[in-house]
Amino acid sequence: LEKFEVKSYEQLSHIAATFIIEQIRMKPDSVLGLATGSTPVGLYQKLIASHQKCEISFRETTTFNLDEYVGLHSSHPQSYNRFMHDHLFSRIDINNDQIHIPNGETRNLQSECFRYEKAIKNQGPIDIQVLGLGVNGHIGFNEPGTSFQTRTHVVDLAESTREANARFFASKEAVPKQAITVGIDTIMDSHKIILLAFGEQKQAAIERLNNGEVSEDFPASILKEHPNVTLIYG
Ligand code: F6R
Repeated sequence: LEKFEVKSYEQLSHIAATFIIEQIRMKPDSVLGLATGSTPVGLYQKLIASHQKCEISFRETTTFNLDEYVGLHSSHPQSYNRFMHDHLFSRIDINNDQIHIPNGETRNLQSECFRYEKAIKNQGPIDIQVLGLGVNGHIGFNEPGTSFQTRTHVVDLAESTREANARFFASKEAVPKQAITVGIDTIMDSHKIILLAFGEQKQAAIERLNNGEVSEDFPASILKEHPNVTLIYG
């Protein structure tokens, strides 16, 4: 792991944005792997600002999001589809056909997982993957105990994850119980990964990542075996 310890969320967002901007400049048709949640919001604001200053264009860029809740309509305010459009896609020049997010409202979840995995295979590999860090060490929605061999699959969300995400919903009960997530092995296929973690609630997870063993009990630990991961944390 390459590491950047930051003093502020602003600095974390700035460093993360630098990685993505350089990637797009170097290869305008890059394939980006994107995350939702609070942590990358500042990064997305920086990308929007950079685009508005005409420094970068996303016209040739393809994106794959990590995950989506099962059972929420894509326009539901808490769906990850809506989140990505609100926080990034509607404010940059990306082509809608080149945006990929798992469809969590299909009846056949298995075939959706298969379709998504195949799309990544056909259009990938992902050049740079943005990851947040769950308080329990999850990456994407791969919760502790998930096999490191997994490809895109349906997951039952951990209670701690539903609690952590309840802040976006009317109540914890309103948080969906399942999600579709790319697998750990899918994530590991990315050429480059930036893992973002910031704030008080993440300190224990950061400590375990830095000093603990590689174990399926702590999914993010596998990233230590990837040749090109940068942890940006504070
Ligand atoms: C989101 C995702 C999750 C989050 C993680 C941290 O697409 O896959 O793994 O990255 O739960 O979330 P925040 O950033 O809200 O603390």
